[in-house]
Amino acid sequence: MRTTVTIEEVVRETPSTVTLRFRYAPTALPGQFVMIWLPGDDEVPMSLSYVEPEPLKGVTVKVMGATSRHFNQLEKGVRVGIRGPYGNHFDLTPSNILLVAGGSGAAVLAPAAEAAHRRGSKVSVALGATTANEILFRDRFARFAEEVFLSTDDGTEGRKGFVTNLLPEILSSRKFDAVWSCGPEVMMVKTLRASEEHGVPFFGSLERQMKCAINLCDACAFGPYHVCTEGPVFDGKTLASVEDFGTFKRDASGQRVRA
Ligand SMILES: Cc1cc2nc3c(=O)[nH]c(=O)nc-3n(C[C@H](O)[C@H](O)[C@H](O)COP(=O)(O)OP(=O)(O)OC[C@H]3O[C@@H](n4cnc5c(N)ncnc54)[C@H](O)[C@@H]3O)c2cc1C
Ligand code: FES
Repeated sequence: MRTTVTIEEVVRETPSTVTLRFRYAPTALPGQFVMIWLPGDDEVPMSLSYVEPEPLKGVTVKVMGATSRHFNQLEKGVRVGIRGPYGNHFDLTPSNILLVAGGSGAAVLAPAAEAAHRRGSKVSVALGATTANEILFRDRFARFAEEVFLSTDDGTEGRKGFVTNLLPEILSSRKFDAVWSCGPEVMMVKTLRASEEHGVPFFGSLERQMKCAINLCDACAFGPYHVCTEGPVFDGKTLASVEDFGTFKRDASGQRVRA
């Protein structure tokens, strides 16, 4: 489905991140993404940070380059092109889940965690950001999570340093049956290692360039996989089997560049 929607709500989450809420009927599952665009601008993939049709679906956009900056400056009432949802989704059946989110990675994990919680799962959250006012969805997670562990690179909130430094303590303190992660790939690599050391199954949501989003163009190739249809959620074994995980991705022209 390809259509336009009107932005009905704009929520400034952090200095670099906004959530745009809109009415969009197609059924979506937590972990899936949509392709969105402004007239005359590039399309970008965005995870749905709110998946339910009521009250409104939403995406949460962090400024990275020109296109995300345009989305970040939108006001209520603007019309945006949208197609999807695409991709696979998180399996919501584990009963004790640890989320490990870095920066805007919380956008895809929040709706999945809410859905798992509604099914009866216990959810704990390790939330990392560069600095205190960039912590995303702290209050949203606090509404249902067993515990929310915070870290900031500059030490302005929570433990100083990377969110992965919290993992040995958290993973030793209680038994989890799944770790879900999204954020910078180097963070996911470390999180995967920590999960493996504690024997906990890992699932990570991956970002790659996308053009068609329907397995036609190869832009999102990740080893033998296509992130648009076989991902964006991959299990730890699959991620570990691809040499590029945490090291290389492709830029808009298809060149392999450092991740
Ligand atoms: C399945 C999927 C889901 C996504 N969900 C979200 C989401 O929920 N929220 C969100 O803000 N973004 C999300 N993204 C990323 C988003 O699609 C764009 O890549 C991002 O907004 C930057 O686009 P741009 O054109 O503004 O910047 P570009 O011009 O493409 O990039 C500007 C600079 O930022 C770097 N860069 C681009 N993207 C990233 C990145 N993801 N991480 C680190 N550096 C990067 C580039 O290498 C470049 O140096 C998702 C991507 C995928 C594939
Ligand atoms: S984006 Fe075209 S194949 Fe995945």
